[in-house]
Amino acid sequence: MIQLRDVTKSYGAGEGVVALKNITLNIGPAERVAVMGPSGSGKSTLLNLVCGLDEPTTGSVKVEGVELAGLSDDARTRLRREKIGMIFQTFNLLSTLTALENVALPLRLQGLSKKEAESRGSAMLGHVGLKNRTEHRPDQLSGGERQRVAIARALIFRPPLLLGDEPTGNLDSHTGDEILRLLDDLQQEYQSTLLMVTHNVQAANFCSRVVTLHDGEIVSDVPCGSGSARVTT
Ligand SMILES: Nc1ncnc2c1ncn2[C@@H]1O[C@H](COP(=O)(O)OP(=O)(O)OP(=O)(O)O)[C@@H](O)[C@H]1O
Ligand SMILES: [Mg+2]
Repeated sequence: MIQLRDVTKSYGAGEGVVALKNITLNIGPAERVAVMGPSGSGKSTLLNLVCGLDEPTTGSVKVEGVELAGLSDDARTRLRREKIGMIFQTFNLLSTLTALENVALPLRLQGLSKKEAESRGSAMLGHVGLKNRTEHRPDQLSGGERQRVAIARALIFRPPLLLGDEPTGNLDSHTGDEILRLLDDLQQEYQSTLLMVTHNVQAANFCSRVVTLHDGEIVSDVPCGSGSARVTT
């Protein structure tokens, strides 16, 4: 599903920051992988490369066998729209749209009618406990509520690949558990591949594998689940 080979990412010229060094990583269909590591170790950079929002300095990134560097901007956008659900650290909700419009947007972009998109969006908001917040804009929502809207938006089109940057990071443990259960349902039903950055042991335990980064390098890659996650952060 995801293949990274000898991927390096540097920012700036000369002695700039090397955010990722020689990363080689293969993630199979329907795998659930947690990415852990200290702040600045390259976790968000890794996700940005996998979803094609950023390009590696050297090396190859493939999603479903397709080399991202070989795609036009349009084709990359289409791939994201059709295959990848993304939940960012910063939510990336559109501030002028209501919660419902934000969640329905991926379906509208796929050509569904407003009525159909908003009906499914409304059901999804119910799933994440925001039935009574559909008409609120992001600035009228709490941080945790915004995060749940972002999650609803990422899940709504049942993407084969789901990328999360601390999807439960700003939530209380109860809501965080609900979100993990929601991800669990989706993953089982649609066999989505999940790649999720997390600092949370519970979220990591929900994955079948934990990849740990340190200073842009993979320092461990171990199976986990059933309480066996080795947390090194
Ligand atoms: N656009 C950029 N320009 C220059 N340096 C960058 C840029 N984006 C990230 N970096 C640097 O790359 C390194 C890796 O950043 P990244 O955001 O991937 O870390 P992270 O592991 O996600 O950290 P956190 O847990 O704090 O989110 C950091 O040292 C960061 O300062
Ligand atoms: Mg980050």
